[in-house]
Amino acid sequence: MKTQVAIIGGGPSGLLLSQLLNKAGVETVILERSTRDHVLSRIRAGILEWGAVDLLREAGVGDRMATEGIPHDGCYLTDEDLMVHIDFRELTGKQVMVYGQTEVTTDLYAAQDKMGTQILHGVENVSIHDLDQSQSYVTFRHEGEEKRLDCLFVAGCDGFHGVSRKTIPEEKRSEFERVYPFGWLGILSHTPPVHDELIYSNSRHGFALASMRNENLVRYYVQVPLTDTVDDWSDDRFWHEFSRRIPSEAASRLVTGPSIEKSIAPLRSFVSEPLRWGNLFLVGDAAHIVPPTGAKGLNLAASDVFYLHQALIDAVKGGSTTGVEEYSARALQRIWKAMRFSWQMTTMLHRFDGEDSFAEQMRKSTLRHLADSETARRDLAENYIGLPY
Ligand code: FAD
Ligand code: PHB
Repeated sequence: MKTQVAIIGGGPSGLLLSQLLNKAGVETVILERSTRDHVLSRIRAGILEWGAVDLLREAGVGDRMATEGIPHDGCYLTDEDLMVHIDFRELTGKQVMVYGQTEVTTDLYAAQDKMGTQILHGVENVSIHDLDQSQSYVTFRHEGEEKRLDCLFVAGCDGFHGVSRKTIPEEKRSEFERVYPFGWLGILSHTPPVHDELIYSNSRHGFALASMRNENLVRYYVQVPLTDTVDDWSDDRFWHEFSRRIPSEAASRLVTGPSIEKSIAPLRSFVSEPLRWGNLFLVGDAAHIVPPTGAKGLNLAASDVFYLHQALIDAVKGGSTTGVEEYSARALQRIWKAMRFSWQMTTMLHRFDGEDSFAEQMRKSTLRHLADSETARRDLAENYIGLPY
């Protein structure tokens, strides 16, 4: 097989990159390890920055998002004494969009099918070769056969556990990591949201987040020890814990119901540099992970795609390699700013086991400062709605 850009991974990064490249007349083939149903069943991100919304529109997948997505003008941050409203619209003139990652990937698969893009599911043993030559190739096993895909460039969109990052020699990579001593237990339930905006709540029992997907589908989270498993959490236990961690006024309106999904995600900050090795480019979770507290993971994948699609179009169509040479440095600048924001939100809103009383005072005074200073709120809002590309 032969293509211009081989894309490893058919998650949001791979699909969006492929869609934007195809629209500009650049050929792609996507190699995805899982089935389509599996990719579409992973409940993950829920909040899109305005830049990501624009990029999805540019990719031609904005129609359903325009009718089913819910624009949010703000969110709340609380502890047991204070409830601070961050008014994105007033502070920045922009909003974010509540539209689930599963919906984004559904729309992208539909658009890619329409384009006639080759997406191979169930590929195994993906291996990337000749990255330092003028042409590269990818070998893999598909439907019982060994196959080879020749290409000019390879986009590593295969998430944190993929092969692309590990293809870059270890001595050429720098990794930066912080692992947090807790995870988030998340549930989905067909119940009405407890509030019309998101609530990030730091209570004495630990962190909780009240999010949503639509007017009758909620996504709620509680901070849990890393040793907990989903089996430790019956629905009743979840609702009890969640309701005592959100402000009492919100808890009084809480409607409970059976969970339709329940999962635990550990929290981690991680960056691998550089994002380019010869003809290989890392995109999204393959290169970096953020804790979900700032809602930045999917959005960072979108900004990587923004920089890379332009660079690859210039290289393939225009013969200019400036963009591909600058991709890593350009994307990393924005990635590190989102790393800082996500780490800061995580530190401000979670309790860490064994922390001293000083840490609690720091969290309280950060929230108090946000309540009292419009400048502080604007800074948070600017980061939350997404820094410019
Ligand atoms: P992935 O979604 O991981 O996709 C990678 C794909 O590559 C997968 O389909 C995988 O099967 C495939 N693959 C892996 N290895 C191989 C291989 N060897 N060969 C072929 N294919 C392979 N982000 C936000 O912006 N906002 C949020 O509100 C938010 N909330 C989150 C909540 C939770 C609980 C979690 C877990 C994440 C959240 N995120 C959020 C992060 C977001 O989901 C990820 O950043 C996003 O999925 C990254 O997309 P990706 O395409 O880069 O990687
Ligand atoms: C979600 O709806 O899943 C969600 C929202 C905001 C976050 C993280 C996750 O910060």
